Amino acid sequence: MKKHSITIAGGGSTFTPGIVLMLLDNLEKLPIDQIKFFDNDEDRQKTIAGACRIILKEKAPDIRFTETTDPEEAFSDIDFVMAHIRSGKYAMREKDEKIPLKHGVVGQETCGPGGMAYGMRSIGDVLQLVDYMEKYSPEAWFLNYSNPAAIVAEATRKLRPNSKILNICDMPIGIEELMASAIGLESRKEMEVDYYGLNHFGWWTGIRDKEGNDLLPRIREHVSKFGYVTEDQSLQHADESWNNTFAKAKDIQALDPSTVPNTYLKYYFYPDYEVAHSNPEKTRANEVMEGREKFVFGECRKIIEKGTAAESALHIDEHASYIVDLARAIAYNTKERMLLIVENNGAISNFEPTAMVEVPCIVGSNGPEPLVQGEIPRFQKGLMEQQVAVEKLVVEAWHEKSSQKLWQALTLSRIVPSAQVAKDILEDLQEANKGYWPELS
Ligand code: NAD
Ligand code: G6P
Ligand code: MN
Repeated sequence: MKKHSITIAGGGSTFTPGIVLMLLDNLEKLPIDQIKFFDNDEDRQKTIAGACRIILKEKAPDIRFTETTDPEEAFSDIDFVMAHIRSGKYAMREKDEKIPLKHGVVGQETCGPGGMAYGMRSIGDVLQLVDYMEKYSPEAWFLNYSNPAAIVAEATRKLRPNSKILNICDMPIGIEELMASAIGLESRKEMEVDYYGLNHFGWWTGIRDKEGNDLLPRIREHVSKFGYVTEDQSLQHADESWNNTFAKAKDIQALDPSTVPNTYLKYYFYPDYEVAHSNPEKTRANEVMEGREKFVFGECRKIIEKGTAAESALHIDEHASYIVDLARAIAYNTKERMLLIVENNGAISNFEPTAMVEVPCIVGSNGPEPLVQGEIPRFQKGLMEQQVAVEKLVVEAWHEKSSQKLWQALTLSRIVPSAQVAKDILEDLQEANKGYWPELS
């Protein structure tokens, strides 16, 4: 098997060590010649890279390793870019969450005004990475999971229509692991699913085992009682906010008991509940900085100090193995069935053809072939039409540098109660994002 060269963009990400460990655990499935880290924050990347260099030396000394902030060095002679950048880092995520909350509106990384603000920062940065890849390694594929994936995916569709980009999200995978555990399966891989929606905005309509037996009724029953909370504590997120989200899935599912939902719908269906249970002084960004960021950077510093990863508490990001599955599908034409964010183009037959939708696809070396999910019901169609218009308006606002369109996008969001509140939030977000957003007129 050919050995591959991979650039991890966002080398300084808290997810990078878990992904490197996951890649090392899958070398027989995806042999690697070279790993390069690229980040625009040299200092932040240094800690993660220093530790990963030691991990690689101990576990796979043949793999060449580079850390760099130089695009030419990073993007030359590679097969894949795995992109998980966070434009503006946690400092800006904190503002995305706190500014809407100040106006009584949900403050969330990818949903509502916070997600739109993040999108206005991410679009240009992600497109720049795509351009670097195409300049220095025109044959390579760009696997993007930088958020907000829905808006980033729409921007890549519209502005880089011929580029080899795959947009993917790990939330359905995480939820499928919980479903599998809820009904006593070993792994989500025992299930085959039908699903449709937008990113962070979708529904499972069919779940079967490999023999074709229908598993959905049992899963529906579990979700209607417990949401995605299962008895297997090891699968649960350690953080309380995530466990609340998994429990809340019960109330989301009540809106359409024939399906099971993506957890992110809670922000759209229960925004009042969400705001009432938020602390405007301490949001998820604070929880992540106190938790995951401290832990990962602390462990990396220990590895560097000791010169060995032998006793490290860093662990494989097991569920990130979908990234290996995706790269393998491209590299070896495996025809793996995976949920991807792709241009609709008839996959949902009664929905906007140019919408970026999340549906099952068969992935091979020429990219994804979306599987037709047919007609969707009026309830979901109405919700999705509104939300996809929001996402498209944000991309248009970025492209045309139009504050008018961004105001329209904010006003159209289900989460925002009025055009006035939208305007007030826009003013604050625009001020906070100076230097990150294009200058809007
Ligand atoms: P993080 O802040 O720890 O890491 C992001 C890194 O990106 C930082 O080191 C930062 O310096 C770097 N960066 C920012 N802008 C850059 C640019 N223009 N060029 C190169 N590097 C740049 O964040 P994190 O919490 O580890 O998350 C990383 C990203 O992965 C976020 O976008 C997050 O939303 C996303 N994510 C997506 C999924 C999914 O389901 N799609 C799942 C998990 C995380
Ligand atoms: C899930 C979503 C991602 C999101 C992440 C946030 O994995 O699919 O899109 O970025 O959760 O997690 P965090 O722990 O940073 O709040
Ligand atoms: Mn996601």
